[in-house]
Amino acid sequence: MSKEAKNKIGEILVTREQIRKRVIVLGKNISQDYKDKNPLLVGILRGAFVFLADLMRNITIPCEIDFLSVTSYGLASESSGIVRIVQDLNTNIKGRHVIVVEDIVDSGQTLNYILNTLQQRKPKSLNVCALLDKKEARKTEVSLKYVGFTIPKKFVVGYGLDCAEKWRHLPYVAAVLNK
Ligand code: IMP
Ligand code: MG
Repeated sequence: MSKEAKNKIGEILVTREQIRKRVIVLGKNISQDYKDKNPLLVGILRGAFVFLADLMRNITIPCEIDFLSVTSYGLASESSGIVRIVQDLNTNIKGRHVIVVEDIVDSGQTLNYILNTLQQRKPKSLNVCALLDKKEARKTEVSLKYVGFTIPKKFVVGYGLDCAEKWRHLPYVAAVLNK
């Protein structure tokens, strides 16, 4: 571990092996629930790209992917609830079965905005699959159909999640020290 990592990366909250096993189950559940529905997986960039890549390879039914890139104004580490779409979908979701794939749900404000925006486009169904759920931090209620892990209210990095664009490459999810 580099000196920088030693100063920054704390306790591993979810190991590589725990993620691997859980993603297999999530893929299986989605494959059963969406049989013959050709779901569209909408990955929220940038954090969800690692999770989405693993999840999709554990789905055994036909499915498609697209991406939505959003930014939240305000402090880098805290959601302001004011969200802007930076890059929109290429797919027309009207009449489609859509699964939003998120890395983490914290206050719920980002996801709430995304769901409201997508709902206006009249998908046939709209559900969420989130790798991590920081339940205690919720300010806006959002319903999550699939959750990988519920974690405590700590700032975490790895497996796609960043702290100021760093540490996305870690194969596990770890708490950040002295954020
Ligand atoms: P929310 O709007 O507060 O739910 O924040 C959701 C977004 O904030 C996520 O999509 C992440 O990009 C980011 N975020 C929230 N908590 C963390 C964390 O612990 N580590 C890294 N990013 C986080
Ligand atoms: Mg994010």
